[in-house]
Amino acid sequence: MTQNIRYVLFRELVGEIPSTTYATHGLYMYPAKFIPQVVRYVIKKYTQPGDMLFDPFAGYGTLAIEASLTNRNCVLWDLNPILHLLVRASLYTEPLTLRDLEVDFEYSETFYPRWNNIGYWHPPEFLRVLTRVWGYWHRALDDKLKPVVAIPLLKITRYFSYSDEKIAKLYKSKYAEEKVKKLLSTDWKSKMQKMYWDYTRETLEKIREYQRLKPYKINCVVKASDWGVFTSEKRIVDSINEKLDREVHVLVTSPPYLQAQEYIRSFKLELAWLGYPDDFITQLSKHEIPYNEIGEGEISSRTYEELKKEVARLNHDKLLELYTVYFNSLARFLNNNHEKVASIIAFFVGPAKIRNIRVPIDTIIREHLEYLGWKHEETLVDTIVARRLFKTQVNPATGIVDDRIPTEHLLIMRRRI
Ligand SMILES: C[S@@+](CC[C@H](N)C(=O)[O-])C[C@H]1O[C@@H](n2cnc3c(N)ncnc32)[C@H](O)[C@@H]1O
Repeated sequence: MTQNIRYVLFRELVGEIPSTTYATHGLYMYPAKFIPQVVRYVIKKYTQPGDMLFDPFAGYGTLAIEASLTNRNCVLWDLNPILHLLVRASLYTEPLTLRDLEVDFEYSETFYPRWNNIGYWHPPEFLRVLTRVWGYWHRALDDKLKPVVAIPLLKITRYFSYSDEKIAKLYKSKYAEEKVKKLLSTDWKSKMQKMYWDYTRETLEKIREYQRLKPYKINCVVKASDWGVFTSEKRIVDSINEKLDREVHVLVTSPPYLQAQEYIRSFKLELAWLGYPDDFITQLSKHEIPYNEIGEGEISSRTYEELKKEVARLNHDKLLELYTVYFNSLARFLNNNHEKVASIIAFFVGPAKIRNIRVPIDTIIREHLEYLGWKHEETLVDTIVARRLFKTQVNPATGIVDDRIPTEHLLIMRRRI
């Protein structure tokens, strides 16, 4: 086993990136997204201008922004339809002024989400205005501007709801109920419009910052689930069953975490206002790793087998299922697609535990890829995260982090020639 393991600070991996939210990286919240430095590192070290990069769990679309700034092309897949919106807004290169982003809060034609439960999330007063401004978005706004306008609009929609905006998951808390009660006793309509403009200015500034960096015109293929909202297609994109129809140079991804975020549930309010029907959203969530269904037999890893015995000893069927579904899903995706990757596979994975059992995701993926014929190139481990999570576990004599500590890893594998 090679020992090419380096302890680094992910945020300082490359010098030229000023912050994790520079340019359009922070237009909207997205749980557990890539930090751009990690993507930039892989791009600089392992790719050439014009190369095709691939992220099958693309989430926010961090890779698209970095690819466009470094003249690489990309293929992005995700189960979450919001990827269509985020990539279009973050890669916006046309001239844009505040006037372009004006909306009508009293628009005559309303839009109601196709979700019976929507009244649980907004009081009728807010719904009355939201259905009008979203009516404007759906029926009157130029398609090209829709993704950009959706950013501030989604932010106010989330704020003017019973959902707790401090928590990514859709969740009605005491705090949020209080917030709505207070808002209703004030001039909330003016506040809603003011917030819209504040968020719009912020969005515009970020897009202009991106445009000042002179992005290249790249080929960026987005394949995410949709229901005729951003594309004419109605389909569910489940990366574990999709197959690449072209060769790519490098695969760089951060797959879902084992302690998953429940992305579809987190984005349910957004998706509903954008026009995705409730039953479609429910279908989507059934494909989300690790809540999907998949048989065993996809993964080949000794560590996986050893830990499976330990997890089985917990006598907890659900936890065992989570464990097996998670790894068999990632393995099936790799089995289906690794042959189309010409040179490098980079996997960014976070710390994971099942009860007290640490699960070294990177080791398991590494072993499976070795089985598929790939060889280990390097693993980068973030020391800051390790310190924060587990205090003084860095050996003062060597400066090396205790290898048993769960932390964030960037695993890089190279195709054997
Ligand atoms: C950790 S996030 C990726 C973050 C992304 N790298 C970024 O920079 O924003 C994992 C992603 O996997 C997606 N996902 C979960 N199950 C999936 C499936 N079966 N097929 C495709 N994508 C899936 C989630 O929607 C989520 O966006």
